[in-house]
Amino acid sequence: MVDPRDVDASRFAGEALAKGEPTGWFEPLYAAASGGAAVVPWDLEAPHGLLPEWGRGVDGSGRSALVVGCGYGRDAEFTASLGFRTTAFDISETAIRDARQRHAGSDVEYVTADLLDPPTEWVGGFDLVLESITVQSMPLSLRAEATERVAGLVAPGGQLLVISGIRPEGAEVDGPPWPLTRGEIDAFATGGLRPVRIESLPLPANPEMHSWRATFTR
Ligand SMILES: C[S@@+](CC[C@H](N)C(=O)[O-])C[C@H]1O[C@@H](n2cnc3c(N)ncnc32)[C@H](O)[C@@H]1O
Repeated sequence: MVDPRDVDASRFAGEALAKGEPTGWFEPLYAAASGGAAVVPWDLEAPHGLLPEWGRGVDGSGRSALVVGCGYGRDAEFTASLGFRTTAFDISETAIRDARQRHAGSDVEYVTADLLDPPTEWVGGFDLVLESITVQSMPLSLRAEATERVAGLVAPGGQLLVISGIRPEGAEVDGPPWPLTRGEIDAFATGGLRPVRIESLPLPANPEMHSWRATFTR
């Protein structure tokens, strides 16, 4: 059974995928939600449950962070709170507009951009890149390209942090989302990135469920 919070996302995704537009469902979903006509399932106040423990003791002062597919900005505000000079982007103009409104006065720079065609000056440009449940929101046909693009944003000496749902190797999945297999997590080690730590961790709010938290460095 589909979780009631996921109904609208599934409907918009189905319509966009039928038109051959794999990322074409985000803007209509956010626009509908903005008018009170839909629910964005990841519209949560707190940062992702696996971020706070990762962030304990991390001082981002003097370093840059890029948050991929930031949505309403919950994780971007968290990296900014650690001191990172944070840029956060999303393919949805409405999400970025609403993130700016929700976090008026925030130090985060919210930008509309497409991970699959990022500004060239971002390539190799960030000390921390945070990819939290965005690659899994794109169909498997885009996985390899999205993974390479994410990895390519990390600066020399920088770090990539990936958080994602888990899909058993070889399992069929009828997304969204399309969680990542261990092999798909390993694939972030590309273009000079190497794995530091790859963990399957229980979610604090629901310990029966596990997610990937993986770090890489260049
Ligand atoms: C599952 S949501 C997660 C949002 C946010 N990371 C969070 O956890 O609250 C995936 C987000 O990625 C964005 N997104 C999907 N494809 C994208 C792309 N190609 N470039 C930039 N953002 C994208 C969507 O608009 C959506 O906001």
